[in-house]
Amino acid sequence: MTYEPWLRYFRGNPSRQQTFDDALDWSRKTPLTPIQARMIARSLQRFELGEGGDGEKLLAKAAQAGDPVYTAALKLFVVEEQKHSALFLLALQYLSAEPLASHWSDRAFVLLRRSLGLRMELMLFLVAESLALEYFRALRDGAPDPLIRLLGARVFSDEVEHIRFQIHRLAEGYADTPAAVRRIVHAGWWILAIGAALVLSWDHRGALRVCGVPPRRFLPAALRAFATASSAVLSAGQKLGPSAGAYTDPDIPQAGPGADTGGVSPAVPAGPVFQDAGRRRQ
Ligand SMILES: [Fe+2]
Ligand SMILES: [Fe+2]
Repeated sequence: MTYEPWLRYFRGNPSRQQTFDDALDWSRKTPLTPIQARMIARSLQRFELGEGGDGEKLLAKAAQAGDPVYTAALKLFVVEEQKHSALFLLALQYLSAEPLASHWSDRAFVLLRRSLGLRMELMLFLVAESLALEYFRALRDGAPDPLIRLLGARVFSDEVEHIRFQIHRLAEGYADTPAAVRRIVHAGWWILAIGAALVLSWDHRGALRVCGVPPRRFLPAALRAFATASSAVLSAGQKLGPSAGAYTDPDIPQAGPGADTGGVSPAVPAGPVFQDAGRRRQ
């Protein structure tokens, strides 16, 4: 499979996401208590910083790898991450918080990424995005503020596709790697993921608790998401288009087998997620 469906997906996504963006009315007043607002803001500050990069080095590595369609899709992926960062900035203003100028975890992540080749960098992304998926699920389902729940749903819906995008490319990269080597790679990847999950759950524990997900529940859920994603790359060798079904999430209806998605994701339709995000906390 080529990356044409991905390019079509990323080109069409802004108009699909407009439903969310129109509904995000940041002029409202938050119902969060000052402590809850501080906890959520503290957490969003890290994501605002982490997702705002221009991806220049990443795109240069992709261009060197020589598939212009993939590079064009990756460019639009970077734009989506920048859009997330812009949304987090709006959320910080809404919560009366300032963005961070820098943070050690972001500096470490950027330094590590720059020292790696394209494949290793994508492996780091897959760790970060699969673990963070559970964080955005917690925001979507449990934040005691409908606007923050909607923000969680908005970002969650993109991240499911980002994970599929990385799986596709990585599975292609490892297709000819002997099974024994893949097992060793998988073991190393797991060590990194466990370390990252521990840092993430500790760093964001305040916001997670506000959303009703204590770190002891978040940690196994985040690692399960990583297990699904990494196995799709190294055990199953899944080359995925946008939302055709192999990276499954129990909460998300998938397209049926053989469904023609036309490069357009049916997995997270804006309407139902929007309604879900507006649901009151149980
Ligand atoms: Fe993101
Ligand atoms: Fe992402």
